[in-house]
Amino acid sequence: MNDLEEYFEKNQGRLIHKWMHYFEIYDRHFSQFRNQDVYVLEIGVNQGGSLQMWKDYFGTNAKIYGVDINYRCKDFEEEGIKIFIGSQEDRSFLKSLKSQLPRIDILIDDGGHTMKQQIITFEELFPHISENGVYLCEDLHTSYWANYGGGYRNQNSFIEYSKNFIDRLNAWHSKEKQRLRVDDFTSSAYSMHYYDSVLVIEKRKIDKPLMRTTGNRSFALRNQEVLEEAIASYRKAIELNPNNYAAYKNLGDALSEQGQQSEAIVAYQEAIKLEKNPAIYYSLGNAQRKQGDLEGAAVSYQQALELNSKQPFWIYPPFIYRTLGNTLSQQGKLDAALTAYQEAIKLEPENSDNYVGVGNTQLKKGAVEEAIASYRKAIELSPRNFAAYRNLGDALQKKGRVDEAISAYEKAIKLKPANPNFFYKKLQQLYAELSRVK
Ligand SMILES: C[S@@+](CC[C@H](N)C(=O)[O-])C[C@H]1O[C@@H](n2cnc3c(N)ncnc32)[C@H](O)[C@@H]1O
Repeated sequence: MNDLEEYFEKNQGRLIHKWMHYFEIYDRHFSQFRNQDVYVLEIGVNQGGSLQMWKDYFGTNAKIYGVDINYRCKDFEEEGIKIFIGSQEDRSFLKSLKSQLPRIDILIDDGGHTMKQQIITFEELFPHISENGVYLCEDLHTSYWANYGGGYRNQNSFIEYSKNFIDRLNAWHSKEKQRLRVDDFTSSAYSMHYYDSVLVIEKRKIDKPLMRTTGNRSFALRNQEVLEEAIASYRKAIELNPNNYAAYKNLGDALSEQGQQSEAIVAYQEAIKLEKNPAIYYSLGNAQRKQGDLEGAAVSYQQALELNSKQPFWIYPPFIYRTLGNTLSQQGKLDAALTAYQEAIKLEPENSDNYVGVGNTQLKKGAVEEAIASYRKAIELSPRNFAAYRNLGDALQKKGRVDEAISAYEKAIKLKPANPNFFYKKLQQLYAELSRVK
């Protein structure tokens, strides 16, 4: 039994009129405000008992306000409890009420419970609830009663009205901005809790949600079964229309993802017959590269770059330059690779991967000091670039700078601890080497 329920059971003061399961709900959402400088407004005073209960529950710092249409309720004012007389469906009364209350942290709507009263009160007073406040509307069962203006699925009921709050709460994700867009509710309502006959809305300033990922992928995004189905569908589409560029392109992508590079290449070549654009050459290059045809891949990437300069923006050009650089470097065409990376750097000077590519190529050329400088530049641009630390470790080790190599590897392990075996072995060797040197 919580304190409210205990108070209710022992109540010798004014009459209180509540459903028993509300006490747990009140305590769940209100307890954080106890003994604080809190402003509580209850609509519906009746005999004044619940206002006395709130005064006891929230403590001496709380300001308790009541609203009732019945002028006799004014008599229930006492220290810490102020009562306003007026109707909750009278917008001008509610406006004047707002101007007299510095703020409302908690609102409990236990008034007349008609649809009109609940909706007007919500519309007028919800925006006035403080940033971290709570709005509670009770006796929602009247939404199912015709004599209160309700009825199951009656569009005018408060329950039906409040269902729209669910959409508004999620409006950040709406793609139909004409119909559903971020509004004051979206950016000020944190959560909604429906209980039997009660809705509680907790407010909090809400910023646009942010999605991130961490950790390592455990399986490919598209599983084999899905790929099989997709491939069959693309083949069917081609059968129906042999001039369907997208079907060939998508077929190529799915085959390549499945590891069938030769078939993917055939599909891409068919697509190229229908339409030449940078994206298709880039995909072709990737399939050729995966197949081990580095020469062919480099040609395709060049082709993509050439078309990219003529056609509207299809693929982010630094991305192609970087992939071309990696391909040429893999081929041993180190100077050409460096030139490709330089192009990527010109277009995207802040991307640390460009410098990792340059470093790797310099390392292959035997220019270890230069490679170290490139990896350091990459780290400067992005202090979380795993490859930069790992390859910096390799380069430093080559130079016998064991201390520095250890700290580079340690940093790499911190960034990607998932596969540490390789590093631990390496580190053990280095620690041993270090103790020999010292
Ligand atoms: C259920 S009682 C309130 C009970 C009280 N909160 C308690 O727990 O003991 C409902 C009260 O709402 C008041 N009321 C009815 N219609 C109203 C309106 N339009 N505006 C304000 N109060 C209204 C009634 O006069 C009545 O006192």
